[in-house]
Amino acid sequence: MTRRFFVGGNYKMNGTKESIQNILSHMNTATLPSQEVVDVIVSPPSIYLTLAQGLVNPRIKVAAQNCHSNASGAFTGEISVGMCKDIGLEWVIIGHSERRKVFGESDEFIAKKVKAVIDGGLSVIFCIGEQLSDRQSGKTNDVIAQQLSAVLTSVPNWTRVVIAYEPVWAIGTGVVATPQQAQDAHKFIRSWLSSNVSAAVAGDTRVIYGGSVSASNCAELSKETDIDGFLVGGASLVAADFVTIVSTAHPKSSL
Ligand code: PGA
Repeated sequence: MTRRFFVGGNYKMNGTKESIQNILSHMNTATLPSQEVVDVIVSPPSIYLTLAQGLVNPRIKVAAQNCHSNASGAFTGEISVGMCKDIGLEWVIIGHSERRKVFGESDEFIAKKVKAVIDGGLSVIFCIGEQLSDRQSGKTNDVIAQQLSAVLTSVPNWTRVVIAYEPVWAIGTGVVATPQQAQDAHKFIRSWLSSNVSAAVAGDTRVIYGGSVSASNCAELSKETDIDGFLVGGASLVAADFVTIVSTAHPKSSL
């Protein structure tokens, strides 16, 4: 079997109606590798999800950047899995380091969200990654293992999960992980899946890299054996760059 490549664009809290329309119309008309080769996802701020969902051609999917674990209720400012489903979304990003760091989301809360998304019939882009101090003190694998362990019992179906390895020191900094650093972490994630879930899940689960991915560094990264795609922040706001990144799609064999 082959692991289809997966490239997501995380717009974070950026964009306007006009700029998002422009990016998406560029993407709609761009020549992208086929659906069998790469999944293409865009994730605008929640206020623009319906707009984006109405604009993209079926080749491109739209993801929410976050959602709550509860189905409804007094959670001012939040959106639910059911709402995402209601407007036709298939994907939700959960556990982004900005949610963890800036908004104080705990491993436990993130695990509840992961479960809610999968139980609700949608799929998760589940983000993990170490801080610079973790890496400097040799704790990268421990942090990754801890973040994975936190969701282990919350994932009933790993076919609905893409793991995004995003070292916090590389996000939005222009300091990209070297292909070797990324490959080492991805390989560790796959070995963790093999030991804690199954060899089949380890072979089939897409593990994508995020953190200062650009049109100029994506080709080298995409060649690594355990890199199955990218979660792209800044460069996803530049349509031509995002198309270049999608075009480096390099699916790997799951055997
Ligand atoms: P960046 O963001 O590409 O701007 O570093 C990546 C992310 O946060 O997903």
